[in-house]
Amino acid sequence: MTQNYTLCEIKENNGRNGKPVWIIVKGIVYDVTKFIKEHPGGEDLILEYAGKDATKAFNDVGHSIDAIHDMKLYKIGVVDNECSQQCQTVTTESKTHTQSTTEQNCQRQKKRMKFFFCF
Ligand code: HEM
Repeated sequence: MTQNYTLCEIKENNGRNGKPVWIIVKGIVYDVTKFIKEHPGGEDLILEYAGKDATKAFNDVGHSIDAIHDMKLYKIGVVDNECSQQCQTVTTESKTHTQSTTEQNCQRQKKRMKFFFCF
């Protein structure tokens, strides 16, 4: 089953403080944490788009068919547009992170609906 990720979840995985590096290209979410060191275009270029939509930058480069083929290795899911709402920045005692209660509720609701329609 394809995993769905909201824009808030993706934004959290921005490569900072040891977090993974996720990027979006054409609505698909890629975990490129291990790949960035091998990227022929350099690590920094991808890091600029960590946690963000890199579609335009990716297309503008005119990546080869081989590069497009390699992307499959890093696919982890798709953007959950239905549940992607406004992100909130929450500061707890020791750290700041983004989360959205509305997103979490939306995802729970979707899971419930899926379960309901299975029976
Ligand atoms: C999963 C994502 C990506 C993969 C698998 C990937 C893969 C590759 C590969 C294999 C090349 C060598 C040339 C080619 O075969 O086209 C390349 C070059 C390049 N990539 Fe990516 N890339 C990714 C994401 C990005 C992103 C988000 C950017 C953003 C700007 C980017 C910028 C570049 C640039 C500028 C080059 C040209 C390097 C040069 O010719 O000097 N790439 N990439």
